[in-house]
Amino acid sequence: MGDNLKYMIGNDKDSIFIGCEPFLNGIANFLATLKERDQNRVKIFDKDVRILLSLLPKKFFSKIIILFPDPWTKRRHRKRRLFNKININLFLEALKKDGEIYFGTDVEDYFSEVKNFFLYNNKNYKIENERNFHSLPDLLSETKYSKKSLKKTTIPKYLVIKKKVDIL
Ligand SMILES: C[S@@+](CC[C@H](N)C(=O)[O-])C[C@H]1O[C@@H](n2cnc3c(N)ncnc32)[C@H](O)[C@@H]1O
Repeated sequence: MGDNLKYMIGNDKDSIFIGCEPFLNGIANFLATLKERDQNRVKIFDKDVRILLSLLPKKFFSKIIILFPDPWTKRRHRKRRLFNKININLFLEALKKDGEIYFGTDVEDYFSEVKNFFLYNNKNYKIENERNFHSLPDLLSETKYSKKSLKKTTIPKYLVIKKKVDIL
């Protein structure tokens, strides 16, 4: 529904944003509320984000936000997770040096898998919010799925990762 995208656009009047979502209802909902003055600096890509990443140059984004990707909790479905070991590298390649990835999920093993990836690669990446994974980073807003999660017993967790090197 673009909840967080709307929030970021409202707080940052200079940046250019790309929202990515193949689900047309979500896009329609977002576009209906996009203010005319912001239309020139917001692009929507309505297909798989991996296609978008393959079309753009490397080191393109200063921030990439991945909030509550589909959890695929069954073990046999885990390889379908968007932020898995293979796709993670596509996102990292697309990020500038000193760029940041924001990742949020309420699935504990999804969170630890991603966190461990970055701990293991700590020469190249730094976890910025090491002391507090539970609080919503300042840059972000609640989303439809973070609110759903807060209504259940699950607690959303967030990772903020900075790319330290000029490789990839
Ligand atoms: C669980 S919803 C979370 C939506 C929103 N980020 C939130 O926090 O409320 C996951 C969303 O990711 C989208 N999605 C799934 N796979 C995708 C992909 N490969 N590329 C782009 N979007 C994808 C789905 O269409 C769905 O809208």
